[in-house]
Amino acid sequence: MKNALSIAAKLEVESKGNAKLVFEDQELAMPVVEGSEGERGIDISQLRAKTKLITLDEGFVNTGSTRSAITFLDGEKGILRYRGYPIEQLAANCDFIETAFLLIYGELPTRHEAASFRAGIRDHTMIHEDMKSFYNGFPHHAHPMSILSSVVGALAMFYQDSLDPNDPKQVEISLYRLLAKLPTIAAYSYKKSVGQPFMYPDNNLTYCENFLHMMFATPTCEYEVDPDFAEALRLLLIVHADHEQNCSTSTVRMVGSSNTNLFAAISAGISALWGPLHGGANEACVNMLDQIVQDGGNVKKYIERAKDKDDDYRLMGFGHRVYKNFDPRATIIKASCDKLLEKLNLDDPLFEVAQELADVALRDDYFIEKKLYPNVDFYSGVIYRALGIPVQMFTVLFAIGRLPGWISHWIEMHNNEATRINRPRQIYTGSTERQFVPIEKRG
Ligand code: CMC
Repeated sequence: MKNALSIAAKLEVESKGNAKLVFEDQELAMPVVEGSEGERGIDISQLRAKTKLITLDEGFVNTGSTRSAITFLDGEKGILRYRGYPIEQLAANCDFIETAFLLIYGELPTRHEAASFRAGIRDHTMIHEDMKSFYNGFPHHAHPMSILSSVVGALAMFYQDSLDPNDPKQVEISLYRLLAKLPTIAAYSYKKSVGQPFMYPDNNLTYCENFLHMMFATPTCEYEVDPDFAEALRLLLIVHADHEQNCSTSTVRMVGSSNTNLFAAISAGISALWGPLHGGANEACVNMLDQIVQDGGNVKKYIERAKDKDDDYRLMGFGHRVYKNFDPRATIIKASCDKLLEKLNLDDPLFEVAQELADVALRDDYFIEKKLYPNVDFYSGVIYRALGIPVQMFTVLFAIGRLPGWISHWIEMHNNEATRINRPRQIYTGSTERQFVPIEKRG
């Protein structure tokens, strides 16, 4: 088996001449670099040293934080590739564990590598019995994302033998532990919320089947995993597995750049994902659909609200910062969503509203002109609902899917010789120096 930390990162960029910065009486030539898909960037690393200027880019809209060889996406063309492989091909042919291997090690596994990777993960699916007692201290209404980040952070207490980010063997065992235990930790957070006993993992099942088993089986009742449920989950985890330098991945890289251990960095990534502007959007989407149902199912009313300039209402699950074409992830899971809904034939008005909303919006000039298509969160929320997964668990599922992406970026960051502790600059806008005022003299 290859060792993740020993794999050289392919991070070369081609030099494409210089960009020139002219400021007052200074002139600086800065190299323009080009990546393997033709994306160009100006290398400003000498800017401050040579001119005392820094760049200001709030929200990092124009800032490339790193070179990376993991995921390529082109939002105009609706392209998403992991390690060069189109997401459509991976979704059609791989399981989640193979996809995780590809992201982490850079190549699709051979039959032998896949078997040994799977076996390694199976070895670690249980959590330490003492960890279960943490759950007794959590309130039953705790959000599962807060449980997830706490318990993942606590893995560093239990596995102090594998915290050195520079030791390939320790990194290897940590990544196995994380991939194996995250579904267990997640399913236990659900069991805690409904007051049911925890179900041990069943290592005879696949990764997705095992998660459904731990969620829905009880000691008193056999639970037979529906293969269509496991298949829908497989697709969802694969399409969420990486999305280059998004907020949570950038968090994992930044936290990891201080040389902290992998568990601590992943726990930070989980916290970043929790926010409604990031992984929390699928939850927001189903809540919106629920609200439309409660309000009589008047889809047109909500479409009009979303179009009204004087109303800041937005349709959740529509639009994307990067994709100005159909979100390729949405295309893949829409088919699975349609199949599942047809099979289950559930009597839930939310699904009708979802269908109608997508149909109306896709024909409406406002949404067409602004290129607002249903995104991955629109369909993922609907699928999770159909699978019977409670709404608070939606972002947890996103975290399980994104884990291999976070791990691969953390490893790439450590393999990159150019990595330094991430420490941005600022433009200070506070008071200039002033004299201390004793408390009795303060107004
Ligand atoms: N409903 C109605 N109008 C919208 C929507 C929407 N969902 N999204 C964008 N617009 C309009 C917006 O009002 C603006 O109009 P105008 O040009 O007249 O001011 C125009 O489209 C461009 O919007 P923007 O806010 O400048 O676009 P953005 O790239 O900053 O925002 C977004 C992207 C995803 C935050 C936004 O589309 C949105 O809020 N969508 C709903 C939330 C959602 O579904 N988020 C999940 C994204 S997918 C998960 C992931 O990949 O992380």
